[in-house]
Amino acid sequence: SVERRVFSGIQPTGVPHLGNYLGALENWVSLQHQYPLILYSIVDLHSITQPQDPEQLRANILDMAASLLACGIDPEKAILFQQSQVSEHAELSWILSCLTSMPRLRHLPQWKMKSKQKSEGSVGLYTYPVLQAADILLYKSTHVPVGEDQVQHLELAQDLARIFNHRFGDLFPEPHTLLSSTRKVKSLRDPSTKMSKSDPHHMATISITDSPDDIALKIRRAVTDFTSEVTFDPDNRPGVSNLVTIHAAMAQLSVEEAVSQAKGMDTGAYKRLVTEAVVQRLTPIREEIERLRADRTHLESVLLQGTQKARQLATPVLKEVRHRVGF
Ligand code: ADP
Ligand code: NA
Repeated sequence: SVERRVFSGIQPTGVPHLGNYLGALENWVSLQHQYPLILYSIVDLHSITQPQDPEQLRANILDMAASLLACGIDPEKAILFQQSQVSEHAELSWILSCLTSMPRLRHLPQWKMKSKQKSEGSVGLYTYPVLQAADILLYKSTHVPVGEDQVQHLELAQDLARIFNHRFGDLFPEPHTLLSSTRKVKSLRDPSTKMSKSDPHHMATISITDSPDDIALKIRRAVTDFTSEVTFDPDNRPGVSNLVTIHAAMAQLSVEEAVSQAKGMDTGAYKRLVTEAVVQRLTPIREEIERLRADRTHLESVLLQGTQKARQLATPVLKEVRHRVGF
């Protein structure tokens, strides 16, 4: 049997929001105790598929590193590294792109969603899922925690493992999906959409470094409805239900427990309870991020050590790939 290896990546978008934390990062932290080999990559090569400001990107990479560490990623348990510093990702991506047909990529979500917003998307945006496949296969990963929105991209990685193995002999294990979480945190302003960093309304999203006052204000302004009782009914009462989801997740309660704690409260009082749960959970994380941000040398050294470990794993795999394809 194959050694179990986990790979996952996150774009350096700066400090994560509550949706990222509850939908992905919290799970990343708990996986550290379940798998012997885990790689978490800050995928900066993916970031440049859309126009970026270089100084901002550099700052975002360090902010993401600080955030991951503050959320509980332990560099002794997981290899935390910056994708662009392991050039094997780009090289394997090129080789895999030569095994990928153009129509195979056309319907994948990243391209469909993001190219629509621009008149023309870049070739890099189009082949983004091939780079994702390379990220995964480069480490012979067996398990990939992804959000539901990424399942189709993982299918491409599975296909490419199969195609490569078929053409050049068995090398890559088929990577399995580990659904991170089905928990979806919604926008506080429009609970029919998910909480997202690209939401232009700054009151819609809670950043994990928001101050207690900002958190209180955002939750106080969160859209609910005209019923004051707290119930969990995402279809008919998305706003209140979103608060229940957040409360339950932050206080580590089941949804039923969260609703029962709200018994007798109107939504105004409940919002204060939710605020308390969020503030309590995020305060140590925010403080740790602030501490780490002030210690750039430390952050850079953590990433450098992660890069060295990742490269050690990547080099022999790519060497074998090069040989198999005839270089
Ligand atoms: P964004 O939507 O802010 O651009 P990303 O697409 O970069 O976030 O997502 C990074 C990770 O966070 C993914 O695993 C994604 O599934 C998860 N995620 C993002 N937004 C949410 C949300 N609102 N609720 C739950 N998980 C989320
Ligand atoms: Na996104």
